[in-house]
Amino acid sequence: MTPTTREKVRLGLVGCGRIAQVAHLPAARKAVGVELVAVCDASEHLSTNVAHQYGVAGFTDLDAMLAVELDAVIVATPDRLHASNATAALEAGKHVLVEKPLASGADEARQLGELASSLGLKLQVGAMKRHDPGIEYAHEAVGRIGALLSVSCWYRVMAALRPPTEATLFPALVVDPDVRTHEAGFKADRERYLLATHGVHVFDSLRYLAGDLRDLSVRKTQVGSDFAWHGRGALAEGAGTATFEIAANVHADWSEGFDIYGELGHVAVRSWFPFYRRASAVRLFLEQTCEETVPKFGDADPYERQLEAFARAIRDGSATNPGAEDGLAAVQMVEAAAESARLDGAVVAL
Ligand SMILES: NC(=O)c1ccc[n+]([C@@H]2O[C@H](COP(=O)([O-])OP(=O)(O)OC[C@H]3O[C@@H](n4cnc5c(N)ncnc54)[C@H](O)[C@@H]3O)[C@@H](O)[C@H]2O)c1
Repeated sequence: MTPTTREKVRLGLVGCGRIAQVAHLPAARKAVGVELVAVCDASEHLSTNVAHQYGVAGFTDLDAMLAVELDAVIVATPDRLHASNATAALEAGKHVLVEKPLASGADEARQLGELASSLGLKLQVGAMKRHDPGIEYAHEAVGRIGALLSVSCWYRVMAALRPPTEATLFPALVVDPDVRTHEAGFKADRERYLLATHGVHVFDSLRYLAGDLRDLSVRKTQVGSDFAWHGRGALAEGAGTATFEIAANVHADWSEGFDIYGELGHVAVRSWFPFYRRASAVRLFLEQTCEETVPKFGDADPYERQLEAFARAIRDGSATNPGAEDGLAAVQMVEAAAESARLDGAVVAL
């Protein structure tokens, strides 16, 4: 039976770590149109316990899991494994939802996109903010404010407030201390890691709301172990300019938003720490009527909604959101931002 005739997309997940347990697995339990069938983690402790918790088959080897009758795979392994894990899943004929970043470099990201398209399989990137109803609304609203003049966005990750917030919001996690120690080694280059892990979210949202940039110029600041990247870029369409700030960490609460000014009005977006599962607050002002629209959204789980969107794309053949080209663009912007910061703010073409 093919996924188009099957009622639910049969799903496997590789990488049973933090984001899988906090977001993807609870989402898979609730999302319409999917059925979690198997999980895989190189850690026996994680694979066995998480599989038991969800009542599904557990594997420590991805190829073994791919031999199961699955339609699609969520790749939630560390960044450096996205390309190889997603390639294996695609080559086994599975559609793939791969966590952000699509891959750890632009070449790998491009190859993944080409592979998925040559095989006629869906490849979606886990930039789940696109499935926040507030961001969805803002995306439409920007289309009503005419040519863009000025876009500013910021993404500031809380420092000491983060652990107690996560401890409150997260379910009890199955942890393998050896995995934590091993992974910490790969995150030791904080400058590279923080820009890559947070930058792809910021750049994907920026592109989704304001379109592509032609170039960017970035300066980096470091205070102790905290980093901030301040950048600007020319919008590819029209004459407008975008500025962005990525700060990890700030000694304050989470702070994330967009202010977008066009010829005809203004869109303001304020977002929350994603695990609140609270839709972004949006205001649309249109100068012609002098009216402001402030839509209300219920709470919404962007991880669950991205999974439902992925399942719909598999079933009806529609495009994934974000797709491989978006994932590639975000990775290219991170690489350009790192290059510009290294050159102390030189303009890097995109
Ligand atoms: N979208 C978001 O909001 C968001 C948030 C956090 C993390 N992420 C992304 O999710 C990914 C995972 O992050 P995390 O924080 O959950 O990491 P993690 O280290 O907690 O989990 C990764 C898991 O992958 C497993 N693993 C490693 N190699 C494997 C292999 N060869 N086969 C099978 N399993 C293997 C590890 O044992 C570990 O359990 C990263 O790419 C990260 O950027 C996304």
